[in-house]
Amino acid sequence: MRQKIIAANWKMNILPSEAKALIVDCLRNFNSKEQTIIICPPFTHLAALSDIAPFTLGAQNCHEMASGAFTGEISCAMLLDLNCHYVILGHSERRTYEISENKRIPGKIKTAIHSGLNVIYCCGEPLDVRKSNHQNDFVLHQLQHDLSNLDLEEMKHICIAYEPIWAIGTGQTASAEQAEEMHKFIRYQLNEMFDAGIAEKCSILYGGSVKSSNANDLAAMPDIDGVLVGGASLVANEFMAIANAF
Ligand code: PGA
Repeated sequence: MRQKIIAANWKMNILPSEAKALIVDCLRNFNSKEQTIIICPPFTHLAALSDIAPFTLGAQNCHEMASGAFTGEISCAMLLDLNCHYVILGHSERRTYEISENKRIPGKIKTAIHSGLNVIYCCGEPLDVRKSNHQNDFVLHQLQHDLSNLDLEEMKHICIAYEPIWAIGTGQTASAEQAEEMHKFIRYQLNEMFDAGIAEKCSILYGGSVKSSNANDLAAMPDIDGVLVGGASLVANEFMAIANAF
């Protein structure tokens, strides 16, 4: 059985002083211990949330160097010290807004894993690529660029979030069938790049306008092992309804 993961990406939303209340609201609606629920708030909220058991804490980024003169950056050791167990890397918003991000992702992934973090690695195609039906080539290129320097042991600390860019924050979700098709393709490629054990055990999440109204359809698909949720993770009832669908 693959681990079911429901991850909240709060992005740059809500205040540190509001964070605990949102977690308490989520916990009130929490009724299953079977999924791993990961909350990824902004860095400034992490200290206040360092004890949110039975949820798990994650961050939205990290630096590839262990420490040093990198003004404004956050190291993996700092995240671990605040009880973070996961970090999101490769998110399309960072790939878009931070010019050097694409090049830095493989290094960030290595450092995160060797520091003791698990990685929620994001990939996914923009709209023009989907329209021209080249999404498989696009995602394969991302996987090869970002993951091919990892060994089997390192890959055990990766879960993949397929997030088609055209579905992020747009209200336009990929259909469960479109998502399943890509998840199957990613799993097939993990088998080609690594081995059958990695392909079988790696949790592959879907992200992009996930809501309680589409979570059941996504959860019914055999290769969709969870979701990475942006906007809907800021509304406790909504987020927990999504989690409970899995
Ligand atoms: P969304 O964001 O759920 O608001 O579309 C998902 C994400 O960017 O991780």
